[in-house]
Amino acid sequence: MIHRRKKIAMIEKVNLEEKFSLFQGHWEPKIVGEVNDSHVKLVKFKGEFLWHQHEGEDELFFVVKGSMVVKLRDRDIDLEENEFVIIPKGVEHKPVAKDEVHVMLFEPKTTLNTGDMESERTLRTLERI
Ligand code: NI
Repeated sequence: MIHRRKKIAMIEKVNLEEKFSLFQGHWEPKIVGEVNDSHVKLVKFKGEFLWHQHEGEDELFFVVKGSMVVKLRDRDIDLEENEFVIIPKGVEHKPVAKDEVHVMLFEPKTTLNTGDMESERTLRTLERI
């Protein structure tokens, strides 16, 4: 019973606008929550990322503000505000944003931002906000 009360006390709602105001950098995802074995992350993109794939993880991109393109090898997926796409594991992709875009990611905790590509942009430890 005590255990259950503690859990209830930890439940807090999250305001995306407020969270996005806490950081500036691009391509640096921040953890804002967890759901079972997945993380909910917020990230700002601007410019081009690198081609990569995630061997074992599906990755969800949800555009909160702005717009972006998720490039695939055979086509581009234009994402506008309030739209999301799920990139299945093993599919090469490259996020591109002409102007800054605010994105929510939902993906397994094991997911590395650059997937199978080791780069100076690879982040092994993510900040929690
Ligand atoms: Ni990815």
